[in-house]
Amino acid sequence: MESKDGLRHPGWETDKIKLSSRLIRKGGRGVFYFLSLPFHMRCGKIGKNFLISPGYSLWKCNLQNVTIGDNVSIGYRACIMTIPLGLNSKPTIDIGDNCNIGNDLKMGAAKRIFIGKNCLISYDVSIIDHNHAFENINIPPLLQGIDKPAEIRIGDDCFLGAHSFILKGVSLGKHCVVGANSVVTSSFPDFTIVAGVPARKIRSLK
Ligand SMILES: CC(C)(COP(=O)(O)OP(=O)(O)OC[C@H]1O[C@@H](n2cnc3c(N)ncnc32)[C@H](O)[C@@H]1OP(=O)(O)O)[C@@H](O)C(=O)NCCC(=O)NCCS
Repeated sequence: MESKDGLRHPGWETDKIKLSSRLIRKGGRGVFYFLSLPFHMRCGKIGKNFLISPGYSLWKCNLQNVTIGDNVSIGYRACIMTIPLGLNSKPTIDIGDNCNIGNDLKMGAAKRIFIGKNCLISYDVSIIDHNHAFENINIPPLLQGIDKPAEIRIGDDCFLGAHSFILKGVSLGKHCVVGANSVVTSSFPDFTIVAGVPARKIRSLK
């Protein structure tokens, strides 16, 4: 910026940097948006400012009845799918507003997965509401189909640590924290910090 004294003041450079980084950010978003068009076209409903990084799976991934709120971002190589188990089955996935999800998410719903608002889901997290049936020893689990699915519910403001696995039927209350590498097999109330395999309560924030 040139001032009355004819000198260039640092503000000029700063404005230039700000402008170019804004253009790069906008351009980047545009490219990402373009690359995510197939996801948009297959997904049930998507809110404003949605961003999903490249590498997401479409092959074998049904995105029917997947609803994503406003300002959600999802990292690279996400695999999100609903798995209908018959004509009357209507599995759903709901991801709330302002959720930030890291790379390599695996999310599969044969019944229902509900993620509240403002959740931070770190990288390599799996949220799967079903299991393969395996009880019949005469048939490989591969051919036994899917066991009875059970809804997963993650409350608002939760933080799921890296590499955590949320199993079927789990319900986490508001503002829960799941430690890195944990396998969550049971439900916990609001403000609970859990960790381990299987995940146990470490402490409560209230
Ligand atoms: C779970 C977590 C939030 C706990 O933090 P904290 O409340 O400060 O807990 P502390 O470090 O005081 O540990 C308390 C106890 O839990 C244990 N613990 C902590 N994290 C654990 C984990 N991930 N798995 C198993 N045990 C864990 C500690 O060993 C300690 O056990 P002790 O009392 O027997 O010594 C944290 O350890 C964690 O895993 N954060 C997630 C990290 C992550 O995923 N980062 C990616 C960012 S995008």
